[in-house]
Amino acid sequence: MKILVTGGTGYIGSHAVEILMNSGHEVTVLDDCSTGHLDSLPPTVRFIQGSLLDPDLVVRALKGCEAVMHFAGKSLVGESVKKPDLYRQVNVAGTKVLLDGMNTLGIKKIVFSSSAATYGEPEKSPISEKAQCVPTNPYGETKLAIERDLSTAALTQHLAAISLRYFNVAGALKTQRGWLAERHEPETHLIPNALRATKESPLRIFGRDWNTPDRTCIRDYVHVVDLIDAHVKALNALVDSKHHIINIGSGTGYSVMQVVDAVSRVKNSELATVDAPRRAGDPAVLVADISKAEKLINWKPVKGLDEMVEDTFKAS
Ligand code: UFG
Repeated sequence: MKILVTGGTGYIGSHAVEILMNSGHEVTVLDDCSTGHLDSLPPTVRFIQGSLLDPDLVVRALKGCEAVMHFAGKSLVGESVKKPDLYRQVNVAGTKVLLDGMNTLGIKKIVFSSSAATYGEPEKSPISEKAQCVPTNPYGETKLAIERDLSTAALTQHLAAISLRYFNVAGALKTQRGWLAERHEPETHLIPNALRATKESPLRIFGRDWNTPDRTCIRDYVHVVDLIDAHVKALNALVDSKHHIINIGSGTGYSVMQVVDAVSRVKNSELATVDAPRRAGDPAVLVADISKAEKLINWKPVKGLDEMVEDTFKAS
């Protein structure tokens, strides 16, 4: 299939490009390279550099494509609190330009990178897609606004859309050109930060007073390769003019200290940590109910936490 991948130079997008091309799809990447890395792309990919906010460029990128995987967007919770307008502009307005371009060219299929940040502070765990969405930051708000636009477009332009609400993505893939690493700058995520920690610069544990068994936050980690497998399965499931929303996680929660233990195991040395205050906006527990993913797109993750930590380590 001919697929436009927006945000294909980023951490998750570049894994999608690699896996799609390896399975014989023809991929065009549209990316402004504001946070991604051009050297993550296979040399043979069709690449268009530019912004989603440029309607002519978007139509040029979409020409000849049958489906879209939409990864492009701003994704830092903390930054979104400081720059909400930027997040609305790039994420919501950018996606609107993409949907308009798809409408112009009659392209009917899209898989969208949404986030568990749409839920906010959940009332129940594990969280099902039926849970109320009350995002606690502008990042989550923009993802929810885009989901609403996709629901509208399913009605008005007969779009077949699936939004995948990611939980905590980790891990990496080895390619013929080397490992595709998670290369965020600044890096805020737990696993890469833990792997970088040293005695001189220990991992900060954000809060030791949460209402959880070991008093640290609990999250649901999913390997990036499993995540892309979910995208491929979602793409194959796009048949009707509807918008479906599906959680993508492992269904299992790990505390920050359990991740610290996994990192110590992989590095074969005890990880240096230091207690720090709670981070603003962190919910105590975020674990996905992934039964809808299995039912709707026949997806289940196969890689566990140790493999995510090992692969992130090898890629770093
Ligand atoms: N943490 C630390 N120290 C660190 C980094 C993180 O203790 O140096 C803790 C956090 O407080 C949190 C847990 O580790 O409890 C996981 O934090 P991450 O930053 O790795 O991930 P988040 O759960 O904050 O965020 C992820 C995605 C977001 C998305 C959110 C949805 O990265 O894009 O899940 O819930 F919005």
